[in-house]
This record gives sequence, C-alpha cells and structure tokens, in this order.
Amino acid sequence: MLPTGHVIVRSASPDDTERVLHCANEMMNTSPFVLTAAGEFAMTHEQERAFLLASMEHPRQLFLIAEVSDAPDGIVGLCSLTQNTAKRKMRHRVMLGMGMRPAYRGRRVGTALMHEAVAWAVAHPELHMMVLAVYASNEAGLRLYRAHGFTEWGRLPDGLVEDDGTMSEQIEMVRWVKEGGTTPRSLPGGC
Ligand SMILES: CC(C)(COP(=O)(O)OP(=O)(O)OC[C@H]1O[C@@H](n2cnc3c(N)ncnc32)[C@H](O)[C@@H]1OP(=O)(O)O)[C@@H](O)C(=O)NCCC(=O)NCCS
Repeated sequence: MLPTGHVIVRSASPDDTERVLHCANEMMNTSPFVLTAAGEFAMTHEQERAFLLASMEHPRQLFLIAEVSDAPDGIVGLCSLTQNTAKRKMRHRVMLGMGMRPAYRGRRVGTALMHEAVAWAVAHPELHMMVLAVYASNEAGLRLYRAHGFTEWGRLPDGLVEDDGTMSEQIEMVRWVKEGGTTPRSLPGGC
C-alpha cells in the first residue's frame, strides 16, 4: 500500500537540510532498531548541510530522500549510501542506512527508496557491494533487504547493547552489484 500522496525519491540537496534533520530525528527517536542510540545524533544545521553537500559531491556516496505530497513537511524517509572515506581499500563498497518516519512505515516507501539505491549502486562503475548491519529482530528491515538481494554473511550474538544492558544479535548483510572478484557468487536478478 502506498501513502495517499505520490512518492518521489530523489537525491537530497543542502536546501533540504532542515527537513532532513526533522525526519532523521523523528525516525531515530521512534525506532528501537536504529543503530544510533538516543542522544547520539546531534548534527547541527551547519553540519548536516555540509554532510548533504559532501554527499552530493562525492562520486561514490548517495543520500536519498522520499517525499510524499500529503506529508506535513514532505520528507518521510531517508536512505544513505556512505563510504569510509579515510580507507581507500574500502572504496568499492557502500554502507546502507535507512529509515522512515513512523507514520510511513510499512507503506512501501522503504521499497521505493531501496529500488533507487540498488539501481544506483548497480549502475556505478566502481562499486562492487552494498553492506549493512541490522538487528536480527527487525523483521521489516530483513524482509526489505532480502527482497532486494541482500544476503547474510555474518551474525554477531550480543553484538548490540542497550543502555539498560539488554543485548541483541546483529546481522551483517551484503548485496553484490558486480560480477567478478575472487569469490564465486550469484548475483540477484537484474544485475
Ligand atoms: C525497516 C524500514 C526501513 C522498512 O521500510 P518500510 O517502508 O517500512 O518497508 P516497506 O513498506 O517497503 O516493506 C518492506 C517489506 O517489509 C515488510 N514489512 C513492513 N512492515 C513490517 C512489519 N512491521 N513487520 C514485518 N514485516 C514488515 C513488508 O511486508 C515488505 O515485505 P514484502 O515485500 O515481502 O511484503 C522501516 O520500517 C523503518 O524505518 N523502520 C524503523 C527504522 C529501521 O528499522 N531502520 C533500518 C535499520 S537497519
């Protein structure tokens, strides 16, 4: 089911800074499955603006937003593909992070964002893989990632710990986007 309004997925620009911050804060404050803990996301307007500008200008990074015409402030979901820019040996992989505002979860916005993110990575001449980490109990996330060709390569029992000491298993996933490399692998369809 799609939201009532039309969903548009596009790259964020610095002009979106305030609305991106609003969406990110609401998303993080309302989900137990975000790896950023309460209080850890403290980007100022200037820092977020610089981050969006850097994402726009970096040849191997992408920051997508989903907008819906009937949403009060437009942006309802985010999807980032980032790199460890300090490590040249990791330049062939991007790390995916994403989340929707609570009212828009389970309404196919994540599917729309993921579709664009995978298409971008597949078309990118230098990228070989998308990677991500997810709580083993995050059913919606796992369904979305598996549907878009991500497979598990590792599980870390007690890999995540909450402020109250509760521990959770973390799953590491990869979505290869190129043939080749040293390990035989089957690519998902459409690649
Ligand atoms: C996880 C998340 C990004 C998925 O995006 P979404 O827009 O809600 O997902 P979609 O509506 O596109 O649905 C994707 C799949 O998940 C399933 N799904 C959606 N909500 C679900 C739920 N609450 N429980 C189980 N499955 C669910 C859908 O049925 C669909 O599977 P299908 O294609 O096999 O039918 C989103 O729910 C979210 O932001 N959650 C909170 C933050 C978070 O977990 N971020 C990811 C951290 S790794």
